[in-house]
Amino acid sequence: MIKVAVLGYGTVGSGVVEVIERNNAQVSKKACDEMHVKYILDLRDFPGDPYEDRVVHDFNVIVEDPEISIVCEVMGGVGAAYQFTKACLEKGKSVCTSNKELVAKHGPELLALAKANNCNYLFEASVGGGIPIIRPLNSALTAEKIEAIFGIVNGTTNYMLTKMEREGADYKEVLKQAQALGYAEANPTADVEGHDACRKLAILLSLVTGKNVSSEDIRTEGITTVSAADFAYAKAANMTIKLLATGKVREDDSLEALVAPFMVSKDHPLAMINDVFNGVFVTGNMLGDALFYGRGAGKLPTASAVVADVVDCARHPGKTVTCFWDAEPATLADMGEATRRYFLRAKEEAKKAVEDAFGQAGTVLDESIEGEFGYMTAPMQERDFMAAYKGLGDRVLNYIRLL
Ligand code: HSE
Repeated sequence: MIKVAVLGYGTVGSGVVEVIERNNAQVSKKACDEMHVKYILDLRDFPGDPYEDRVVHDFNVIVEDPEISIVCEVMGGVGAAYQFTKACLEKGKSVCTSNKELVAKHGPELLALAKANNCNYLFEASVGGGIPIIRPLNSALTAEKIEAIFGIVNGTTNYMLTKMEREGADYKEVLKQAQALGYAEANPTADVEGHDACRKLAILLSLVTGKNVSSEDIRTEGITTVSAADFAYAKAANMTIKLLATGKVREDDSLEALVAPFMVSKDHPLAMINDVFNGVFVTGNMLGDALFYGRGAGKLPTASAVVADVVDCARHPGKTVTCFWDAEPATLADMGEATRRYFLRAKEEAKKAVEDAFGQAGTVLDESIEGEFGYMTAPMQERDFMAAYKGLGDRVLNYIRLL
């Protein structure tokens, strides 16, 4: 029998127990042995819960139990979760996690620790919720030189932007709904400010390059400045607005990495990815584009990915599944050189100043919003755009990049 411990009985933790119990026949068959949740670690008690008898409050009970071979770390954070993960790996217990913050921060160290102890540190659920994306990068796409990886990797903000577009809904109201549905982080600032998407991009780019991409080095802008007015201009231009995580490998192997809201043509496949769904494009030099699409957040989709990792660990007792992610830092490119078009909104009286700053090659957009206008630049370098935009001071209201 495979005895599993679950660290954290919150949204994902309770989902992990539910997946293992409800799909026990399938999971056990695929793991080639019966799977059983022996312990659930949480500070709280859960009177009346069907698994209340498995709840323990002392981590040492788990780490000192030789029967436990696989641990699911779904508590989140980089404090106790980090200490517990290290302690488990040091004892040769594999760890499966949805904790992207921890994976992004300590991935190379924890992978090396797993290897040194002939066990595994697996994190399929850390990016894209229930969508398989980590395993494809580590196995199905290993014949490729990956040239780009980009897409929607935060379910909360995609849910919010979709509601804002379709219903003209209020930002705070849609955030509350996303939280109630279990999509958001404990502190939703990580979602709306783009930090969650940034950590996921750091993980993906680390796997693409085999080197360490630090999330702190990735330029990140969230959705807090995106307004109904931005959506009105986007709609008039047959576009929508999506929070994208974008990574591109340059010829010299340096990486362009950026998380920000983008205006996306309604004809682009990413424009059709709505609600909590995520979509990640991977461009390989042989394959071309592949799109990974599915539920990017939520209890059961995320838990399903964690349990799939548990099955993988069960299938490889005493062996470490190969994963290339070294501590050596990857080289990030200067994003000022990136060339693209930009949308901006400005106060009515700044029309001449905007045209002077960005030249005649741009386009003035529908002016139906009183007192302001929209403008789309011709393709230009980010550093030139930012210099001109900042030069306009408080006459400009917001900007959004074009995909
Ligand atoms: N808060 C995250 C999201 C959860 O909304 O995508 C899944 O990683």
